[in-house]
Amino acid sequence: MKNICVGISGVGSYVPEKIVTNHDLSKIVETSNEWIIERTGIHERRIADDDMATSDIATKAAINALEDARLRPEDIDLIIVATVTADHAFPSTACIIQKNIGAVKAAAFDISVGCSGFVYGLSIGENFIKSGTYDKVLVIGAETLSRVVDWQERNTCVLFGDGAGACVLEKCEEGFGILSIELGSDGSNGEVLVQPAGGSRLPASMDTVENRLHFIKMDGKEVFKFAVRVMERASTNALEKANLQLGDLDFLVPHQANMRIIDAAAKKLKLEKDRICVNLNKYGNMSSASIPVALDEAVKDNKINKGDNILLVAFGAGLTWASMTIKWSRREDR
Ligand code: ACO
Repeated sequence: MKNICVGISGVGSYVPEKIVTNHDLSKIVETSNEWIIERTGIHERRIADDDMATSDIATKAAINALEDARLRPEDIDLIIVATVTADHAFPSTACIIQKNIGAVKAAAFDISVGCSGFVYGLSIGENFIKSGTYDKVLVIGAETLSRVVDWQERNTCVLFGDGAGACVLEKCEEGFGILSIELGSDGSNGEVLVQPAGGSRLPASMDTVENRLHFIKMDGKEVFKFAVRVMERASTNALEKANLQLGDLDFLVPHQANMRIIDAAAKKLKLEKDRICVNLNKYGNMSSASIPVALDEAVKDNKINKGDNILLVAFGAGLTWASMTIKWSRREDR
């Protein structure tokens, strides 16, 4: 049987216009530009206007990705949205985007995998295409984390930003496209990164609001240790599954949470700085949107060429991790 290969045929992204700098944050919590840059690498982040929800910024990223893939919305068979900041508990953000873009024949659903969500989404899309169920899948990572960040809590509010990125998956030339996938979860350690209230465990009440339980709670040190450990393991496992050596890798597109985490992964992978896509300094941690936004910027800057070996690697709430190797299948002049 002929091997079906699945690759990325279009990429797009959108970040809100409003920029919030470290200096701006130092006026609302006890922090400083120097502390934030030294401990995280973040200089500024984008924040969505009050009247914008996750589906609004995701719709813009989706339209950009469709244009890039030269497809019409009605060509799309499936929309997968990775997000932890959905517009509502239901309906799904994917269904709202389906309506917004007019993808009339598409099935649509959300997945909740924290910052690993976009890579999980790509793997689901790839499997739907490989199984012959669908031909064209739109995968989106989109977040408005500004809505669930506690702006009185300096340990977390300096870290996050809003944004959206999207990719179109389609069949591609044999030998190109997604080469390997590594997904993992450790639910036993999930309490280190959690939004405690608003679900069935702690429904919204005066008490949950007064105790600020609808905001992100994070044990930064534990998440940091976990991240450094799994970024290396997930990366080397994905490379091994694809029969790639470290020297075969052209670009690393890591989840953008903390420059020290990215540097540690790069050191273990023996990668020079110019082979790592970094945009954390401009946008902070956009959770599931970090990787597709970084990938879109690298593609639009003509950094990634046909035949390049790319490694995506992420970690996030759950706890979860995900990595994927891709032999880039698009020509840069498309
Ligand atoms: N400004 C100034 N001081 C601060 C700030 C701040 N913004 N935040 C914390 N501090 C203080 C702390 O209170 C602490 O003070 P203390 O010693 O008097 O108690 C001191 O700085 C050191 O704090 P640490 O927590 O030890 O700082 P650390 O070097 O670990 O950096 C950080 C904290 C940046 C949060 C780091 O642990 C980290 O990046 N962790 C991973 C976070 C992450 O990746 N999250 C992903 C979320 S993914 C998702 O799914 C949403």
